[in-house]
Amino acid sequence: QRHLLGIEPLRADEITTLLDLADQYVTLSRRREKHSSLLSGLTQINMFFENSTRTQSSFELAGKRLGADVMNMSMQASSIKKGETLIDTALTLNAMHPDLLVVRHPQSGAVDLLAQKVHCAVINAGDGRHEHPTQALLDALTIRRAKGRLHRLNIAICGDIAHSRVARSNLLLLHKMENRIRLVGPATLMPAGIDAFGVEVYDNMEEGLRDVDVVMMLRLQKERMDGGFIPSEREYYHRWGLDAEKLAHAKPDAIVMHPGPMNRGVEIDGTIADDINRSVIQEQVEMGVAVRMAAMDLLARNLRARPTELSA
Ligand code: CP
Repeated sequence: QRHLLGIEPLRADEITTLLDLADQYVTLSRRREKHSSLLSGLTQINMFFENSTRTQSSFELAGKRLGADVMNMSMQASSIKKGETLIDTALTLNAMHPDLLVVRHPQSGAVDLLAQKVHCAVINAGDGRHEHPTQALLDALTIRRAKGRLHRLNIAICGDIAHSRVARSNLLLLHKMENRIRLVGPATLMPAGIDAFGVEVYDNMEEGLRDVDVVMMLRLQKERMDGGFIPSEREYYHRWGLDAEKLAHAKPDAIVMHPGPMNRGVEIDGTIADDINRSVIQEQVEMGVAVRMAAMDLLARNLRARPTELSA
């Protein structure tokens, strides 16, 4: 692949290759062998048009650990504020010959559009409600390490499915790897026609979590609700927030995941989030750096194999 724009175009064997490589980066990092010169001489620009803690910092760390020259564009201080369009901004940066753009944007499809206009590799760091591929890959690596496999697991994705690019990318990936997926949450926060996707849909947490191996909680994405239905946080927590009572319906060794940022007391009880026997939320963050190193490593191999395209 030239870019990493989503999970949709990836085959199961490509996902496995990337996860295997990411696993090696986890081992190296834990041995404090964090640095290499694999991306030496390559320029990585991070363009985040939406706030981020985990994704932006881990892409920056990943690039630096692989030896790239990493630039974080401050979009708040850029000429976007003076009315310059996304495409003009991309063309301007393209003229400076970057090798890799990492882009997050609030509009679904914006990163695909940008990728068509530039000569370098592009990684989607989250576009609107569409995709967040590296999040799904880091979630997959976390599950595979915790459960010893990434197939034939019962996985519940819970909460605000309709507005979540994390849910969409995870659904695509976990489906490709032949898992059984349940979506659990209020009917008002389920995308129309989702049951045609080969998933089971529940609006009741107790039923939805029964005997699952993995419980993946999602944030209520109020910023994407466009004045539509916004549930009261109290009512939402009571019915769909993960607490010990609801988690007791999952398998005794079920793991608890959350992509962050978390709203404690809204979609998850803080005690569950911090329970190191159940929660793998900190492992997800650790896997984020390794997966992003693996993604950039694989894209860089393609870049090096196509020097003429870089100078086009
Ligand atoms: N999970 C995730 O994308 O977090 P950030 O918004 O902090 O990057």
